[in-house]
Amino acid sequence: MAAAPSALWSSRLAFVLAATGSAVGLGNIWKFPYVAGESGGGAFVLIYLFCVVVIGVPLMMAEILMGRRGRQNPADSFRDLAAEAGAGRWWWLVGLMGVAAGILILSFYSVIAGWALAYVPSAASGHFDGASAEFVGTLFGNLINNPARLAFWHTLFMVITVCIVAGGVEAGLEKAVKYLMPALFGILLILFFYSATSGYMGQALAFMFTPDFSKVTPQVILSAVGMAFFSLSLGMGAIMMYGAYLPSDASIPKLAVSVVAADTCVAILAGLAIFPIVFANDLAPGAGPGLVFETLPLAFGQMTGGTILGTLFFTLLVVAALTSAISLLEPAVSWAIRHSSLSRGTAAILAGLLVCSLGYLTIFSFNQLPDFKTLFDSTIFD
Ligand code: ALA
Repeated sequence: MAAAPSALWSSRLAFVLAATGSAVGLGNIWKFPYVAGESGGGAFVLIYLFCVVVIGVPLMMAEILMGRRGRQNPADSFRDLAAEAGAGRWWWLVGLMGVAAGILILSFYSVIAGWALAYVPSAASGHFDGASAEFVGTLFGNLINNPARLAFWHTLFMVITVCIVAGGVEAGLEKAVKYLMPALFGILLILFFYSATSGYMGQALAFMFTPDFSKVTPQVILSAVGMAFFSLSLGMGAIMMYGAYLPSDASIPKLAVSVVAADTCVAILAGLAIFPIVFANDLAPGAGPGLVFETLPLAFGQMTGGTILGTLFFTLLVVAALTSAISLLEPAVSWAIRHSSLSRGTAAILAGLLVCSLGYLTIFSFNQLPDFKTLFDSTIFD
C-alpha cells in the first residue's frame, strides 16, 4: 500500500513550474548550446529532439507515475512498489542510486552555478566593457584557478539552495518556483528578442537546424542521449520526487508532455539567443564549455547595452540552476527525514554540507589537483 504523501503541490500549475524548473537549468543554457556547437549544430539538434520525444517523454511519464504511486522519496517508493508487485526486496537500492545521483550531480552543478553567480556582479559592474579576448580569458582563468573564490561562490549558491529546500514543499520549493520561473522566461525572452534584431538570426537558425549528417559519430549520438537525460532531469531522483507531491487526479501524460515541451523550447531559445550574438561578433560557436563564460562576455563587451544584457544573461543562468538544484537536493532531504528523527531544516543543512564538501573536490580538480585521475582516467570534475 502506498504511503500517504507528506505534502502536495497546491495545483497542477505548481507541479509544472517545479518540474520545468528542475528540467530547465545549466543543461539548457550552458551545456546544450556548447555541445550543439561542438557537435556540428543541426545534426546534433535533430538527434537530440528525437531522443527527447522517443526516450524523454515515456521516461518522464514513468518517473512521475512511480513517484505519485509511491508518495515518498525514490528509494522508499521503489521499495514499496516492488513489494506491491511481489518483486525482489532490493529494488530500493535502484531508487537510492537516483538519490545519490542527485547529490553527485549537484556537487559539480553548484560549482558551475557558482561561476555564473560570480559573473553577475562582474557583468553588472561593467568588467566586460570593451574587453579583449585575452582579458576575458584571464578573467575566467583567474576564477578557475582560485580555489577560495570558487569555494565562496559554490558555498553561497548551496546556502541559497538549502534555505529554499528547508522551507518545505509549499513554503520553500513551490514559492521559489512561482517567482523564479516567470523571471527565467522573462529574461530569456528579452535576450531572444534582442538577438532576433541583431541581423544574425538567419545564420543561427541555419547553424542549429541545417543537419550535416557527416558530423554524426557514435559519440555525437551518445552526447545527444546523455543530454536528453540530463536536460530532463531523468534518472536523478528529482522528477520521481516531484511526482510524489502530485495530486492524485492530475493527468500524467499531459503534464509530462508540457514539461518536456517547455524544457526543449528553453534549450532551443537559449541557442537562438546565444548564437546570433556569437555570429554577430565573428566568434566561434564551437568554443566548448567556455562558450558561455568566455565567448559571450567578449560579445557583451562589444555590444551596445552589453552591461545590462550580460547581467541579465548570468542572472538567467543562476535562476535556472537554482530551480534545478533544489530538485536535486530534495530527494536526499526527504530520504533523510524518513530514516531519522531530523527536522527538515537540519536534514537540508546536512545534505547541503555533503554536497559542498564533494564540490570542493571538483574545485580542486581545476587548480590544486589537475593531474589527479579517477578510475576512469578523468579528472574529478569530468
Ligand atoms: N535538468 C537540469 C539541467 O538541465 C539538471 O540543468
